[in-house]
Amino acid sequence: MPDDTFIDLFSGAGGLTFGLQRAGLTPIYALDAWSDAIDTYRLNLPGHTAECGDVADLTANKMKSIIPQRPNWVVGGPPCQGYSTVGKRNRNDQRNRLFEHFRRIVQYLEPDGFVLENVLGLKDMSYEQEVAEAFREIGYRVRFQVASAADHGVPQLRRRVLFVGHREADFKGLDPLLQADQYVSVEQAIGDLPKLQPGESATMYDAPAKSDFQRLMREEMIELQGHTASKHPPHLVEAISHIPDGGNRTSIPDHLQPKSGFHNSYSRLASWLPAVAVTQNMGKPSGTRCIHPKQDRGLTTREGARLQSFPDSFFFTGPSTSQRLQVANAVPPLLAESLGRSLLDPDHWA
Ligand SMILES: C[S@@+](CC[C@H](N)C(=O)[O-])C[C@H]1O[C@@H](n2cnc3c(N)ncnc32)[C@H](O)[C@@H]1O
Repeated sequence: MPDDTFIDLFSGAGGLTFGLQRAGLTPIYALDAWSDAIDTYRLNLPGHTAECGDVADLTANKMKSIIPQRPNWVVGGPPCQGYSTVGKRNRNDQRNRLFEHFRRIVQYLEPDGFVLENVLGLKDMSYEQEVAEAFREIGYRVRFQVASAADHGVPQLRRRVLFVGHREADFKGLDPLLQADQYVSVEQAIGDLPKLQPGESATMYDAPAKSDFQRLMREEMIELQGHTASKHPPHLVEAISHIPDGGNRTSIPDHLQPKSGFHNSYSRLASWLPAVAVTQNMGKPSGTRCIHPKQDRGLTTREGARLQSFPDSFFFTGPSTSQRLQVANAVPPLLAESLGRSLLDPDHWA
């Protein structure tokens, strides 16, 4: 029987599980209410039950029959929309309380430890103490941390809130693997992918990998999945063609200015920096700084997946809007892998 087994509640497409598995932990069960995400999970993480269902229906009786053994860890990212600093925050949003189901399941299964991850909005709203206390009450020593994905080799400035609890030991926290001057840039992340016009697709690489990150993402792959650029109207393509690498809509001439959008809509990623947090609107120039640094279009799903550090062998299923949401929702696998290594390392515990 493997040690360091875990179950993933709110698993989504499996970014968190994938990274933890790469670090050496063993997933034994996953649950998510979204069938597209579970289909993606099953495709990429076979060998154990991944169920499409509501966490509220995971009763004690059901757990007895469906979870094959007491897991060492329970991990999960309850939905983040209610806390998100991108969306509108709302304390009374019912989705903000789903962590209570997570806590109920931890209390029932009594794993050695748990990991609860969420977006940074959680900290802004001072839920930190409330969440930590709720787990202390059921016997866990809780460590809270804000982790920056770029510190762990992800080409993206995304921060996640992590609560790590254990029954017997104190987690010392994640150490950054990289300094800011070593961060992986957008060019190092996606610069090898075939050039596309809006509306075009590519299914094969057409140039060798040029950076260590590109080699890491390609592994042995020869075919590309999800590298399809959305169509944009010609006047929009002309408008964004005026924006330089790393620039914004102030470079668009007045007569071509889009009528709507926020201050960071119609902005190009900077090729020499990590990306800003990837969102589900990555394909639309009106999304949050998601125009390709050198091409006149939004990002493809594969480019978004690369910026989240999903390897090219990780395939997403469902319609493209769904695939993009699965990518954007995920814990970057390299961050999850770094977390997993720390969980397994005795030096990270006191
Ligand atoms: C932030 S995403 C999790 C991302 C995931 N940890 C990853 O790394 O890919 C939150 C997930 O919670 C799921 N979810 C929302 N409400 C749920 C519920 N009541 N029961 C189970 N899953 C739910 C959503 O479908 C979504 O996939």
